[in-house]
Amino acid sequence: MTTLIGRNSSGKSNALDGLEVLSRLASGADLVDALDSRRGDEGPLRGGMAGCPPHGTDRFQLGCTVFAPDRLGKGYSLIYLDVTIQVRPEPEIISETLVGISGKRRSTRNPLSQIAHDLLSTSGAHPGSGTIDATWYNGRRGRDPRASFRSTRLLTSQLPLRLAGETEAEQRVATAAEDVLETLRGVFHLDPVPHLMRQYVPSRDTRLRRTAENLPAVIGHLKEYDPQRFQQLVTRVQSLVEHEVTGIEIIRSPLNDVMLALREDGATTPAREMSDGLLRFTAIATSLLRQGQDLDLGGRGSEDDSRSPTLVIEELENGLHPSQATQILDLVKQATQEDASRVIFTTHSPALLSALGAEDHKDVVVCSRDRETGLSHLRKLPEMDGYPSLMAQGDLGMIATSGLLEQAPAPARDFTEFDRLMGIG
Ligand SMILES: Nc1ncnc2c1ncn2[C@@H]1O[C@H](COP(=O)(O)OP(=O)(O)OP(=O)(O)O)[C@@H](O)[C@H]1O
Ligand SMILES: [Mg+2]
Repeated sequence: MTTLIGRNSSGKSNALDGLEVLSRLASGADLVDALDSRRGDEGPLRGGMAGCPPHGTDRFQLGCTVFAPDRLGKGYSLIYLDVTIQVRPEPEIISETLVGISGKRRSTRNPLSQIAHDLLSTSGAHPGSGTIDATWYNGRRGRDPRASFRSTRLLTSQLPLRLAGETEAEQRVATAAEDVLETLRGVFHLDPVPHLMRQYVPSRDTRLRRTAENLPAVIGHLKEYDPQRFQQLVTRVQSLVEHEVTGIEIIRSPLNDVMLALREDGATTPAREMSDGLLRFTAIATSLLRQGQDLDLGGRGSEDDSRSPTLVIEELENGLHPSQATQILDLVKQATQEDASRVIFTTHSPALLSALGAEDHKDVVVCSRDRETGLSHLRKLPEMDGYPSLMAQGDLGMIATSGLLEQAPAPARDFTEFDRLMGIG
């Protein structure tokens, strides 16, 4: 569970968009198709490709660290992907590296104490040619193979096809590349749109879409094949509203299309008449109860992707009464138990922040924007200067409301000045 907080326009959604870009590229799609295309239900990225580079520049860099599954010390436990994309004159990748850290320990703190291999690195870009040269690791010192790749697709996505897999080292590189790609492809932005959930949908459409428009089909499937989880959903919905809800029903049309309905106060309320907040909550609760399984990854995921998905939900509290903060958090925690899935959400809700326990603070990331450089900084809450004295002043919701968090100065060892500013110590 990761909670992203910070003022408006501080860069929360930008960070999540960065993840979205990597996820789209991990499918192996062409840069323009992935970021600008209007096809498919994903649509173009916010601002399109032209909106990706910082203003006044023509390129942008993205990177991520992937924790790979433990392979008894035989594979890479941490993999770093870094890519630089130039958008003008022609969109292309001008540099990409994949670095693997081997060993059993899953520590980001001191990764250099472990063995690092350059699994993939670009060497020669030929701008405008549509190709770029790269070498990859094969374990034969000084004899790494080199080849030309397409510069309009993520090289990591092209790598598995290039590897002959002759050496054990090459097989490990292929596995590392697949780990990165699978993890990224599993990123799913859930953005339920209530008015779309009020319609009839084909009952076979049971993989949850981003807009949750096919929620009735998903819930119908849940009711039939997973009655236990379905009952949990009913209980969650019951505790959301004041009036009595006795069940969730699926209305069927003669053509076997389905629509959601609530059994309440002795009558049936079709989704057409259901409230926005309730529909949105039902969609989020359903995806969380299913721990992010059976999502419609829009051709991005492949059938054999086995890694747990990463659900991204913007403004989790949107449309919810503040009294529901604990309930929604509880659902997120349940979904992320035992690594079943990862959930990243943004929130502006003081109620939700206050519902976080001290043990959850390590999972809170504060986003703030430097006035001078315009750059956004993302910091873990407990690593912020003055964190102990801030927390002594009240709960997180109260502190966020007062705007004190963003005023915390940039990291410095000495807390006394900050404490003085805050009127403590
Ligand atoms: N290409 C760009 N170059 C420079 N700055 C940019 C670029 N694209 C977006 N921005 C800045 O990022 C801001 C948007 O940030 P973002 O959407 O991440 O905010 P947020 O933290 O999600 O805020 P909110 O809570 O309101 O949703 C823009 O207002 C702009 O200032
Ligand atoms: Mg935002």
